[in-house]
Amino acid sequence: MSVNHDLIPNNVDLSSDKRLQRALNAWHPKFMEWWKAMGPDSFQGSEVYLRTAVSVQAGGWANYDFVRMPEYRWGIFLTPFKEERSIHFGDNIGKPTWDEVPGEFRKELRRLIVTQADTEPASVEQQRMLGHCAPSLMDMRSLFQVNVEEARHLWAMVYLLHQHFGKRGREEAEDLLIRRSGNSDTPRILSTFNDPIQDWFDLYCFTMFTDRDGKFQLAALSESAFDPLARTTKFMLTEEAYHLSVGETGIGRVIQRSADLMRAGEDDLVKAGAIPFEIIQKYINFWFASSIDLFGSEDSSNAASFFAAGLKGRFDESNRELHPDPQGNGSFSYETWDSEDQRVTHEIPLRRAMNALLRDAYVRDCERVLKRWNRILEQTELPVRIMLPSVRFNRRVGVYAPRCYDPHGAPISESAFEAKRDDWLPTEADKAYVKSLMHQVVEPGKFANWISAPRRGVNKLPIDAQYVRI
Ligand SMILES: [Fe+2]
Ligand SMILES: [Fe+2]
Repeated sequence: MSVNHDLIPNNVDLSSDKRLQRALNAWHPKFMEWWKAMGPDSFQGSEVYLRTAVSVQAGGWANYDFVRMPEYRWGIFLTPFKEERSIHFGDNIGKPTWDEVPGEFRKELRRLIVTQADTEPASVEQQRMLGHCAPSLMDMRSLFQVNVEEARHLWAMVYLLHQHFGKRGREEAEDLLIRRSGNSDTPRILSTFNDPIQDWFDLYCFTMFTDRDGKFQLAALSESAFDPLARTTKFMLTEEAYHLSVGETGIGRVIQRSADLMRAGEDDLVKAGAIPFEIIQKYINFWFASSIDLFGSEDSSNAASFFAAGLKGRFDESNRELHPDPQGNGSFSYETWDSEDQRVTHEIPLRRAMNALLRDAYVRDCERVLKRWNRILEQTELPVRIMLPSVRFNRRVGVYAPRCYDPHGAPISESAFEAKRDDWLPTEADKAYVKSLMHQVVEPGKFANWISAPRRGVNKLPIDAQYVRI
């Protein structure tokens, strides 16, 4: 079976690259099988108002039209960099960046790319049933937009594997279509991507917190000395911004709705069919902690060697006001508490703290969004506020994982944590309640009771446009 390469938007000269064509010919039918089996359930024949990236020129990444998802034109794009690049951090500053993978970093780079790549199809699989209970046509469209773009991110990473990693790369590209989110025999690589996303509030939390981890990982890779990786991830970031806005505005609209109902005199949000603030807070606690785990351990010798070699930089690495020392010398300190509740101060070389630095940039980004949500609450003059838990809370990975901390970061015993677990993290009853609110709303311009309407439509279309022709 051969692929019509003219239909694949790209700026990698696909039409004359026979080797790449051959690799894609073999992979593409398997991708389509995967999409049909694991993409959005039941909506493959619907026409969806989607944007498609057709070029890297300004605006070229946002062409809108009604498309059936299996006919979506997944493309391959590398952001063109204007200037000649040289390595700008780590041990090899000033040397030219690499167009091909250096032999000594082959394994590390392949691992970095495969780990990132694996999250892309995983999230599509996690979200595949959500179309059935979308709170509006506009939200359904947002979900499908995110899904097709995550699949394009898979393409972007597969391009790197095909083009730069030979036979082993082609095998890895196939394995990306074989692993399945939540499957005990062939799970996805990272544990967060094996948890099912059962309701739309989960989806908004995922796109707010977990996709945001993706933003920071991609940003760190976009500094890479391996030039094709830097340029591929740079382009992915343009699409990622939309995913984050789905999460931020989604949670914002849930907060708005609950606040509006309370201001209108409802004191029981469950009776009113909306999401109570305690449940909102618990979901945020859960998703923030599980997303923070994705950064890996705060103290990591792997992270240090990735930085030294120039494989992965800090967030906004080129900004020398933010990072005056391109070699990343200096130290990083953090505190933990031992099993006797004694405070222990750790000081580690800054390079070993690269995951922690990336995490801190992420936390600052989350805090900015929290302020916006709390502004909604200030405007409704309710006393309630949403908070971000401490980075020490409920960790499974890293230096805080060995013991328990409360949402403010204070050390507590395991039994004290267990006694408070239901106050801090979603219970089965909370999840069942949120799930009970999920009913599909498909009348244009109408929204489920538990969420307010967005401020504006998509691409200047009105809010009541027929975004999905089911
Ligand atoms: Fe992605
Ligand atoms: Fe994303």
